[in-house]
Amino acid sequence: MDSSAADIRRAADLLRAGELVAFPTETVYGLGADASDPAAVAKIFAAKGRPADHPLIVHLPGDDQIERWARDVPPVAYELAEAFWPGPLTLILKRQPSVPDAVTGGQDTVGLRVPGHPLALELLREFSGARWSGVAAPSANRFGHVSPTTAQHVREDLGAAVAMVLDGGPCRVGIESTILDLSGARPAILRPGMVDVGAIAQILGEMPAIGGGAAAPRVAGSLDAHYAPRTPLLLVPGDGLAIAVRNAIAGREKIAVISCFEAPLQHDLIAWRRAPADAAGFAHDLYANLHDLDRLGCARIIVQSPPQSEPWRAVMDRLKRAAAGSGHA
Ligand code: TXA
Ligand code: MG
Repeated sequence: MDSSAADIRRAADLLRAGELVAFPTETVYGLGADASDPAAVAKIFAAKGRPADHPLIVHLPGDDQIERWARDVPPVAYELAEAFWPGPLTLILKRQPSVPDAVTGGQDTVGLRVPGHPLALELLREFSGARWSGVAAPSANRFGHVSPTTAQHVREDLGAAVAMVLDGGPCRVGIESTILDLSGARPAILRPGMVDVGAIAQILGEMPAIGGGAAAPRVAGSLDAHYAPRTPLLLVPGDGLAIAVRNAIAGREKIAVISCFEAPLQHDLIAWRRAPADAAGFAHDLYANLHDLDRLGCARIIVQSPPQSEPWRAVMDRLKRAAAGSGHA
């Protein structure tokens, strides 16, 4: 599992040579390329099968490099960086003209993040060196698939398309970073994540808008179908689960269930995953559960809907997208 200093050096060399390296972050694994090299960045889109106008997040070793990538940076960006970096928060800022269009999708903004994983930080420091370079990295999965939270997930989904996979064990957070847009008149959360919105609001001095609205920049994560398993996924309200299970057994269908409750019965046709009853625990296990259950050849994955309250917003967001996009090979 552990990657050595020699692995980090080799990974940084590969990045410098324009190759792709998958690396762990605290959220999900990223598929990295030298953010200042358009040809290297183009390989990310080819490997993922992702539309080329979708912008990528640039990963940096520290907030002292923000202005290499962004201009007109509002002071509050530094306060947020101080509070949340390294960590699962991405800031959208006005871009420097030198940032390749391949990274920004041709938009006037750039997404920046200092990830909270020791291996990611070592890699970013080793790679950046005197050149102050960043690593452009989307989640290391094929477009529309469930994001990887282990090195094994990356190898299964991307295989030979990636020169090297740094293995840092399972990701601590388990779902993608919160995206906060600071480039407009009012701060806006473009993608909810596990950072507490109340804590962000306190630093901003106002509540950010939630969701970007029609004028918002393109966000791949804002497509309805995303983060999806191949098995059809059904999100059912608390009391709908018993009926869904009964129907499956009556129809002799094999199903998988994710629920915060104990399985009420043992049955050959039911693969039951008990999920943690707190949002952080549920998020931590979510993609690993979907990857596992997707392999069982079930007719459906039924997820018992968690509460609609604020701490669960990001989990509900991913579950709704997974349901919308599921069932396609
Ligand atoms: O946790 C994460 O954010 C992970 C790890 C690897 O850092 N990365 C990740 O990347 O989730 P990706 O590409 O799967 O999702 C990044 C999202 C996309 O929805 C993209 O559209 C949005 O960030 N994004 C990037 N730059 C943007 C920009 N300039 N304006 C608006 N959205 C942007
Ligand atoms: Mg992604």
